[in-house]
Amino acid sequence: MAKNRSIKDAIISAALLSVGVDFAAAATSGWQFVQNGTSGILALEAIIVSPTLAIFFDRATNDPLEINGHPAWGALWNLETNTATPLDVLSDSFCASGSLLSNGTMVSVGGHIPVISDATDGRMAIRLWEPCDDPTGTSCKLFEDPANLHLAETRWYPSSIRISDGSLMIIGGMHERTPFYNTDPSNSFEFFPPKDGGVPRPSEFLNRTGPVNLFPRAFALPDGTIFMIANNQSILYDIETGVETRLPDIPNGVRVTNPFDGSATLLPLVPPLYTPEVLVCGGTNSTDQLPADELDSQFPASDQCSRIELTPEGIKRGWIVEHMLEGRIMPELLLLPNGQVLIVNGGQSGFAAFAGVKNAVGGESNADHPALTPSLYAPDAPIGRRINNEGMPTSEIPRLYHSVATLTPNGNILIAGSNPHAQVVNATEFPTEFRVEYLNPPYVTLARPTLRSVPAQIQFNSRFDIGIDIPDNLRVSSIKVALMDLGFSSHAFHSSSRLVFMEARLSPDHKSISVLSPPNNRVYPPGPAFMYVTVDDITSAGAHVMVGNGRAPPVEDQGIAL
Ligand SMILES: *[C@@H]1O[C@H](CO)[C@@H](O)[C@H](O)[C@H]1NC(C)=O
Ligand SMILES: *[C@@H]1O[C@H](CO)[C@@H](O)[C@H](O)[C@H]1NC(C)=O
Ligand SMILES: *[C@@H]1O[C@H](CO)[C@@H](O)[C@H](O)[C@H]1NC(C)=O
Ligand SMILES: *[C@@H]1O[C@H](CO)[C@@H](O)[C@H](O)[C@H]1NC(C)=O
Ligand SMILES: *[C@@H]1O[C@H](CO)[C@@H](O)[C@H](O)[C@H]1NC(C)=O
Ligand SMILES: *[C@@H]1O[C@H](CO)[C@@H](O)[C@H](O)[C@H]1NC(C)=O
Repeated sequence: MAKNRSIKDAIISAALLSVGVDFAAAATSGWQFVQNGTSGILALEAIIVSPTLAIFFDRATNDPLEINGHPAWGALWNLETNTATPLDVLSDSFCASGSLLSNGTMVSVGGHIPVISDATDGRMAIRLWEPCDDPTGTSCKLFEDPANLHLAETRWYPSSIRISDGSLMIIGGMHERTPFYNTDPSNSFEFFPPKDGGVPRPSEFLNRTGPVNLFPRAFALPDGTIFMIANNQSILYDIETGVETRLPDIPNGVRVTNPFDGSATLLPLVPPLYTPEVLVCGGTNSTDQLPADELDSQFPASDQCSRIELTPEGIKRGWIVEHMLEGRIMPELLLLPNGQVLIVNGGQSGFAAFAGVKNAVGGESNADHPALTPSLYAPDAPIGRRINNEGMPTSEIPRLYHSVATLTPNGNILIAGSNPHAQVVNATEFPTEFRVEYLNPPYVTLARPTLRSVPAQIQFNSRFDIGIDIPDNLRVSSIKVALMDLGFSSHAFHSSSRLVFMEARLSPDHKSISVLSPPNNRVYPPGPAFMYVTVDDITSAGAHVMVGNGRAPPVEDQGIAL
């Protein structure tokens, strides 16, 4: 990695002693799994919508939590009390996607034809959760108006990301129920609010990546273009011209989108260059030409991580291959406020989806050998030494198909779900999992920096001050200020997840930090964020901020060009 893009160099202010932190050292002790509460519905999708709340969505089936006299398939998860409250959802949110918009509204899109009469067809659904100040959320409602507010095309298994004008871009999916592969594809992109008069844009990329192109992994890059991965292929998409440019395939025949899910993340963007790099881990090197019933739950998952720098030179170099400590199908890759990536969840063999392949476990799980010990990936460490699980705890709960993980405002990791079944099934190997657990980084139980007087809204390319209380025992040899979208977790992918480091200067009395916000709305698509400060690898709780003008999308370009 070039010197000028190293996280340490960019973030440690010149005023501080440039001692730096050994990235791997933080993993040596103190990580813990803590179970707390049950999710009430299967947590198949999860998104943090406020400092105190996450929303979970499931399929409309037989979940134990009830609302209006029928099973619920949406729930508010209260991060303070660790309890679930049912949410009144109209349409079937099975295998949907979503994100936050530039005005703070959460949008959930797509879904399925319900199997119970209490739900409506969710395939064209748009579900809105407006910003809600009630810490319990119980006075706020999910809004749906299927007759007037819907997608242009039916989409089950789509992805969606917030783009630089604050809108949602919705990518791919399928029209009808198909049991494993995408045999009835929605080979197009559309937007919310709509562009092009609401006419979806056909995609050659989606056309040629079937039948393993569900939940495409997509990223809004700092120049406003979109990088996408489906099956073993990748492209750059220019939203303004509609041009798709083919980029190198993932090496060694490894395929990474559903039902062969690996995961992918945009690595932290670091000033002053914000050079984009994408990391893809797991999936499978199986052929996509065999019928599902000739695939096997015991087929080893891929341990390959592939990383590409999305600059002309980086694209010429192509993907650089590394290896995880184990193979993983359906891992989650989670950005942490110190710039590392957590690798968690998934199975060491088999495939995503359920009841499709040979030797399905308990009759239904296409995956086996749960990966119970997370790893950390340190982007700045030398290749070959980036991944380790030293000091990492081992969970007793398999998290296979239909599980979620997300960083929380407090800075720990919420993990829930797992259901390799069509509905709630309890008495089997790999049952429907309701137990919620947190993976606590070491700092959760230590004295942490505390943020005070953080502005509620920050404009692009502007300097602002935050107050901070730093525990006396810290030497203060490094400070990192991370602006993060925590993403929408569905099917081993965190759409819209993002970490932008901000240049920061600590005052001589160590009581305040002067921070420079991202240069423009392409580096951080405008919308809500959590801001975390990490001092000597001890991370504060996050502060909720609105980035940009807070208006409804599409918003104009803001800030300065890079
Ligand atoms: C499954 O177990 C949960 C509790 O763990 C219970 O609430 C629910 O009723 C059970 N559902 C079925 C279908 O057995
Ligand atoms: C579970 O969460 C509740 C509510 O925040 C808290 O009071 C309790 O101490 C937690 N239990 C454990 C084991 O962490
Ligand atoms: C996919 O590509 C084939 C061959 O180019 C073409 O015939 C077909 O119409 C395309 N389908 C879609 C949905 O774009
Ligand atoms: C990607 O998959 C296609 C077939 O699906 C294969 O022909 C191609 O060689 C693969 N690419 C790489 C780099 O393995
Ligand atoms: C496919 O992946 C498995 C598991 O990682 C590995 O053992 C095997 O060598 C790979 N095959 C090829 C052709 O790369
Ligand atoms: C945010 O924008 C969306 C799209 O225009 C709109 O549906 C929603 O009501 C807006 N929310 C607020 C709080 O203005």
